[in-house]
Amino acid sequence: MALPTRMTTFRIQIDGDAADIEADSETSLFAAMARAGVAWPVSCRNGTCRTCIARLRQGQVRYDIPWPGLSADEKEEGYCLPCVARPMADLVIARA
Ligand code: FES
Repeated sequence: MALPTRMTTFRIQIDGDAADIEADSETSLFAAMARAGVAWPVSCRNGTCRTCIARLRQGQVRYDIPWPGLSADEKEEGYCLPCVARPMADLVIARA
């Protein structure tokens, strides 16, 4: 799979919400949601506390930190941490 070029723009849909959010590939999901006025729980903003945990229903994300506060099983099950996750595709996420 080819990696997106810098600043590719993707759409984030929050499961159950009508509006889509635009997010570029260098911006965290949380930052994109905050910019769009979406209220989402957040605390540490560095991938350790898990306050922001979400379920990735569709799409793929990447992390700049080597291993965010998720187990391998949780990642496999589709959990993500929006404060440090960046989109690699159009996404659908849900509150966990
Ligand atoms: S806000 Fe702490 S892990 Fe996302």
